Amino acid sequence: MKIFIDTANVEEIKKANDMGVISGVTTNPSLIAKEGRDFIEVVKEITTIVDGPISAEVISLESEGMVKEARELAKIHKNIVIKIPMTIEGLKAVKILSAENIKTNVTLIFSATQALLAARAGATYVSPFLGRLDDIGNEGMNLIEEIVEIFSIHDIETEVIAASVRNPIHVIQAARIGAHIATIPYNVIVQMTKHPMTDLGIERFLKDWEGVPKK
Ligand code: E4P
Repeated sequence: MKIFIDTANVEEIKKANDMGVISGVTTNPSLIAKEGRDFIEVVKEITTIVDGPISAEVISLESEGMVKEARELAKIHKNIVIKIPMTIEGLKAVKILSAENIKTNVTLIFSATQALLAARAGATYVSPFLGRLDDIGNEGMNLIEEIVEIFSIHDIETEVIAASVRNPIHVIQAARIGAHIATIPYNVIVQMTKHPMTDLGIERFLKDWEGVPKK
C-alpha cells in the first residue's frame, strides 16, 4: 500500500517527504482554507516538493464548470490529479476528463455503488472516507473492503485511496484489506513512527554506552 499525505500544509509535506515515506498528496477545500493562502500558489508549491500524484479539488457543482476548472489545474503540472465530488455531474466530468487523459480522484465516496460508478466513468482513483463513516456509527473499513473486493473481482484498474484516516489502526487495517493507497494526515504519520519500546531501547543503549571505556 502506498502512502499519500492528506494536507495542504507545505511544511508538513516537506517533513513527510524528507522521511521518504510518501508518494503523493491529497488536498481538499477545507485543508486549503486552513492554510489561508492562495489555492493555486499552494498547489504549485506542492508540485515542487513531491514528485507524485497531487490531488486538487474543483469547486463547481456542474460538470461544465468542473471540467473548466480541471483543465486549468491540470496545466499547472503533469502530476496534478483532479478531485471531483461523487455526483452525477461529477461522473459526467470524469468521463470527459478521462477521455482527455486528465487523471481524476472521485471524492466523498460513502458506498460501494458510488465507487463502482466512479470507476466505470473512468476515475483514476476513488476516495472512500472511512473516518467520517466511523463518526456516524458505521464501520468505515467494511466499505474499503467491499470496494477492494469488487475492483479485484472485476479487474478494475481504478485505485482505492483509503481516505479520512484518523489513526494508525486505520492504516494497518486498510493495508491488510488491500487498499492501494492510504492518504494520511501528518500527525498520524508521526504516530506511526512511534513505539515506547523503541524509545526505551534507545535510552538503554545510550545508558550502556556510557559504560564503554573511551580512549
Ligand atoms: C481525502 O482525500 C480527504 O482530503 C480527507 O481524507 C478527508 O478527511 P477528514 O474526514 O478527516 O476531513
